[in-house]
Amino acid sequence: MKLADIYRSLESDLAKIEEGLELAIDLDVPLLYETSTHLLKAGGKRIRPVFVLLSGQFGRYDIEKVKKIAIPLELIHMATLVHDDVIDNAATRRGQMTVKSKWDNKIAIYTGDYVFAKALSIATELTNPRIHRILANAIREMCIGEIEQIQDLYRSDLTFRQYLLRIKRKTALLISISCQLGALVSEADEKVVSLLKRFGYYVGMAFQITDDILDYTGTEQELGKPAGSDIRQGNITLPAIYALRYSERRDKLLKWIDRKEIEPHLSEIITIIRESGGIDYSRRVAETYFGKAKRELNHLPDLSAKKDLLEVTHFLEQRNY
Ligand code: IPE
Ligand code: IPE
Ligand code: MG
Ligand code: MG
Ligand code: MG
Repeated sequence: MKLADIYRSLESDLAKIEEGLELAIDLDVPLLYETSTHLLKAGGKRIRPVFVLLSGQFGRYDIEKVKKIAIPLELIHMATLVHDDVIDNAATRRGQMTVKSKWDNKIAIYTGDYVFAKALSIATELTNPRIHRILANAIREMCIGEIEQIQDLYRSDLTFRQYLLRIKRKTALLISISCQLGALVSEADEKVVSLLKRFGYYVGMAFQITDDILDYTGTEQELGKPAGSDIRQGNITLPAIYALRYSERRDKLLKWIDRKEIEPHLSEIITIIRESGGIDYSRRVAETYFGKAKRELNHLPDLSAKKDLLEVTHFLEQRNY
C-alpha cells in the first residue's frame, strides 16, 4: 500500500477532520478568520491526524471520539507553525506567504494563540484528565525546546545530546502523543498505548532530523518554505554540529559562526557543511531512529493499521518535502 492509498483508505475520516478544522475557526471576526484559514487552506501533510487515526484503530475505533483529539493536535501544530514563522522570520510556508509576512508579527501571535485556544476547547469534549495532562505537558516541553533553541543560537559548541533533547521537545513529543492519544481515546490496551507512544517518539526524532537535512538539501520550491534558513539564523542543527567537529574547514566555520558573520559567507558556509559529510551522517542518524520506530511496530497486533503505519514511516523516510 502506498501513502496515497493510505490517505484514500482514511479518506472519509480525514474529510471529517478537515471539516472539523474548518469549523474550528469559523467565527465572526473577519480578520482572525482570514488569518487562521490562510494556513489551513494551504494544506500540509496532516501527518499528526493520520497518526491519530491509525493508532486509534488499535482500540475501539470511533471517529467521533478520535477526531476530538486529531483536530486539536493538527490545530496545535498549525498554531506552532504560525508562531515558528515569527521566531524564524520566515516568508513562506506550505508554498504560501506566512501569516507574519502577509499580515505582520503582532497579527501572527494572536492568530497562533487563537488557533491554540480553539484546539483546547475542542479537546475539552474529552473528559479523561490524563489526556489533558499529556497535551499540556507536550505543549510545555515544546516551549522549552524553542526557548532553548533561541538561547543557543550561534553556539558552535552545541552538543549532539543537546540537539537530540531539543528536537525531542520541539517536534518528537507532539508526534509521539498523536500516536499515544489516538490509542488512548480508543481505549486500546495499555501496552499498545506505550508501544505507539514510543513508535511516535522515534518517528518524530527522525522527522525533525529529516527536516533539518532538507533545510540544507532542499529548495524553497520543493519545501514550500525557505531553505538554508537554519544556519542563516544561527540555528545549529545536526549537519552543522557534525561539520563543526569534522570538516577540514572547521576553523573557518567556527570563526564565522562565533562572530555571527553568516550572511556574507552564506554560500561558502553551506558548501562547507554539505561537503563535511554532515548530511550523510544526519541521514544515518535519522535512519537509526526510523529503524527503532519500525521495530516497535513489530510488537503490535496484526491489524491493517500496522501495515499502514509502516507505509507512512517509509514515506517519511523518503520524503523530500
Ligand atoms: C513542520 O512540520 C515543522 C516541523 C515539526 C519540522 P510538517 O512538516 O508536518 O509541516 P506540514 O504540516 O506538512 O506543513
Ligand atoms: C519546527 O522546527 C518546530 C516547531 C515546533 C514548529 P522548524 O523551525 O525547523 O520548522 P520549519 O522548518 O520552519 O517547518
Ligand atoms: Mg523554528
Ligand atoms: Mg521554522
Ligand atoms: Mg526546519
